Amino acid sequence: MIPKLSSRTAWDLRENALHEQVLQIRQSVAHLVDLGASNPTVVGLETPRELPLLLADPAAATYDPDPRGLSSAREAVARYVGEHGAAVDPDDIVLTASTSEAYGFLWKLLTDPGDEILVPTPSYPLFGYLAGLEHVATRTYPLVRDEGYRVDLAALEAAVTERTRAVVCVHPNNPTGTLVRDEDARAIAALARARGLAIVADEVFLDFLHDGRPRARSFASETEALTFTLSGLSKACCAPQLKLGWIVVGGPPELRRAALERLVVIADTYLSVSTPVQRALPRILERRPAIAAELSARLGANLAALDRAIASLGADTPLRRVSSDGGWSALVEVPRVMSEDEWIVTFAREAGVLVQPGWFFDIEDGGTLAMSLIVEPRSFEAAAGRIADVVRRHV
Ligand SMILES: Cc1ncc(COP(=O)(O)O)c(C=O)c1O
Repeated sequence: MIPKLSSRTAWDLRENALHEQVLQIRQSVAHLVDLGASNPTVVGLETPRELPLLLADPAAATYDPDPRGLSSAREAVARYVGEHGAAVDPDDIVLTASTSEAYGFLWKLLTDPGDEILVPTPSYPLFGYLAGLEHVATRTYPLVRDEGYRVDLAALEAAVTERTRAVVCVHPNNPTGTLVRDEDARAIAALARARGLAIVADEVFLDFLHDGRPRARSFASETEALTFTLSGLSKACCAPQLKLGWIVVGGPPELRRAALERLVVIADTYLSVSTPVQRALPRILERRPAIAAELSARLGANLAALDRAIASLGADTPLRRVSSDGGWSALVEVPRVMSEDEWIVTFAREAGVLVQPGWFFDIEDGGTLAMSLIVEPRSFEAAAGRIADVVRRHV
């Protein structure tokens, strides 16, 4: 007999047709600029390069684990969260190997098989996998494009069922780059409290708001509903390879205490964060402002280059950037003279630029593409110019 594999892992692993086409194009087009890039360690940023050197601390030769994470590391996270206006107790923080692992811990904490969590759509495609791996179902609530991807509060409330355990808020969202407005956050907290739900706030991009945007409120200062605020080094310090994330547990003290008691046992079961990175965390986070400044300058420059390229097509061009508050991507509406996938192939062949389809993030209008803004600015500017040229030729 053949061993049975879990139904959780019965994924359709066939590559889609677009992926096959892109693979072929990659082989035939020299110097393709990949505007699907999301890995900050390979885009020529200077400031994060020294972070791995900070791991060489003799103190890390000793293994003396704390299930929440070493207190010196949690104190450093509390200082970081404090910079976002939230005063948190280091004992209300649990370290994880990544934000993705934090989601796994939280679904273990909050759900039984068959329970549901609410996730925004459009958003980051990993949520379905992270939930499915814990036998949890995702239901979506819409962010309304015509209202700047604002949360549809009525639809969110209507999506709550007896099995709903948590609402995920991505602040700012990936790839739309939109923040959850303060009044919407308050309404979500009131709903969560009334219906016995937890809020899971993903703030991995909160340090990257576009120029001129005021600092946004962190969900870590939430007091009304049980709230888990997630972030980590992947995005905050452009260092996904260091494998360190965190969960800040907030909300009414009695709910917070009960959740933490069990969350600590989950973390203790894995003890997944390495000692060297925990020891180095205070010094890593001291360097964060310089890293964020370098990347923010690049995001701003690339956004401006994209806007210039679009403006070169004239005021009435159907190529349009969707406005956003921050994040590492830009969304662009393309003219409807061909499908999203056809535009991707056309941009790759004729401009030597790879972009991502909106459908990858469940944007269903059939005419939106996502472009990474973390790419080296000279390549990005040239790529944006070539994209504009291709649009000019086809419209
Ligand atoms: C919104 C969002 N959350 C979480 C993650 C994953 O972060 P980590 O590397 O900490 O697991 C990503 C990665 O792109 C993301 O876009």
